[in-house]
Amino acid sequence: MKVTRRYSFSASHRLHSAQLSDEQNREIFGKCNNPFGHGHNYILEVTVRGAVAPDTGIVVNLQSLDQVVRDQVLTRYDHRNLNSDVPAFATVPPTTENLTTEIRNGLRANWPPAFPPLERIRIYETDRNIFEESVS
Ligand code: NI
Repeated sequence: MKVTRRYSFSASHRLHSAQLSDEQNREIFGKCNNPFGHGHNYILEVTVRGAVAPDTGIVVNLQSLDQVVRDQVLTRYDHRNLNSDVPAFATVPPTTENLTTEIRNGLRANWPPAFPPLERIRIYETDRNIFEESVS
């Protein structure tokens, strides 16, 4: 069975790639390239897949899951400037594509061995922009 839990965090970013000219940055990122940046209220969904334990009737302890997500995601990203506060985004632009990969990597690297496997993470940047990565 798959179990998904939803979290939220707020962060700001400016989309800008050092590998592109200023003109190319404006062309590709549009208003998201504005030097002053802008914020999003991101929604993060974390999905695990595992068997329902016969004794407890649950797949994963949600309080334990919350603690992992708090440590690996919320304390690192909530109310942060993604460009300046997250080391990974010193070299790659903090698009939500890259944010999804970064969060996936952090969760995967610190996933408790006793947990059922991490199946997927999904980030809603806005109601219309949704990013998802499977974990294998
Ligand atoms: Ni944005």
